[in-house]
Amino acid sequence: MIKVENVTKYYGKRLAVDNISFSVKKGEIVGFVGPNGAGKTTTMRMLTGFLAPNDGEVEIAGHDMLRHSLEARRYVGYLPESIPLYTDITVRSYLEFAARLRGLEPARVKDRIDAVVSLCHLEEYVDSIIGKLSKGFRQRVGVAQAIIHEPQVLILDEPTIGIDPLQVAMTRQLIRDLGKDRTILFSTHILTEVSTVCERVIVMHQGKIVAQDRIEKLATILQGGRRLRIEISGPAEQVASRLRKVDGVTQVSTKGSRHVVECSGAQDPRAAIMQAMVESGWTVLSLEALAMSLEDVFLKLIARQEAKQ
Ligand SMILES: Nc1ncnc2c1ncn2[C@@H]1O[C@H](COP(=O)(O)OP(=O)(O)O)[C@@H](O)[C@H]1O
Ligand SMILES: [Mg+2]
Repeated sequence: MIKVENVTKYYGKRLAVDNISFSVKKGEIVGFVGPNGAGKTTTMRMLTGFLAPNDGEVEIAGHDMLRHSLEARRYVGYLPESIPLYTDITVRSYLEFAARLRGLEPARVKDRIDAVVSLCHLEEYVDSIIGKLSKGFRQRVGVAQAIIHEPQVLILDEPTIGIDPLQVAMTRQLIRDLGKDRTILFSTHILTEVSTVCERVIVMHQGKIVAQDRIEKLATILQGGRRLRIEISGPAEQVASRLRKVDGVTQVSTKGSRHVVECSGAQDPRAAIMQAMVESGWTVLSLEALAMSLEDVFLKLIARQEAKQ
């Protein structure tokens, strides 16, 4: 649905996006993550036809954004970083305006407004003046205008920035709902946000894509293996030395009855560990895989990128 190939963008002499390529499949919700200044907004503006790349190609639903811009733009809804909302009109008037701007047939406008108002849970506020709404609700009006023309692809630039925690939770739920039958790329500089909304992330830093993969896979790749925390009732030192002999175990650190086990590469020695403990007559009280936090992943990815330069 979204295809970006070797795209580069300069602002004057400043390189903002440096030869990036990625694609998003139909029905996917992908998180676009990176610190401020990484190039996320610039990339999204190119995806929505607001900015032309200096080099490379952007395709939306099979339509080239440069050569067939009107066609391609029909398939995209866009929530910009700062929404140019008119604050002195009602939500309904604004959505009517957005519908006209998108070239909707007049006969469809009312139905479409009802549909997006219901999807974005704006029923109570449809006749309110936009300027009187809280930031979170304004953000939802922004989402509503982005989907007024039923686009298959949604580009949301930092949809949860600057809104309170309760509304952040509601916005995340809204993204998940919208993602059921749409392709979504949404950006954030808050890493923990992506894991609750999407399965795949594209990580950007200094204009480059430093990683793109499923979240849990990124963590495993970076860790270069798994880490398990196991609680075993049995003589700690003997347990630890038996654990070290299990195939795939590279390191064991022990604290009382708890052992943290590092495993190499892609091996999953959990079954072998269980068996070894049972054979020795010890009981495994608990066994859990320790996940690396997304923040850890992010820092590591950036460090790895910087080491390459
Ligand atoms: N209109 C602009 N003119 C000049 N430089 C810009 C402009 N917009 C963004 N930049 C620069 O391009 C880089 C990428 O910015 P941006 O795409 O906004 O990143 P992000 O959205 O990830 O924070 C930054 O270094 C930023 O300072
Ligand atoms: Mg931005």
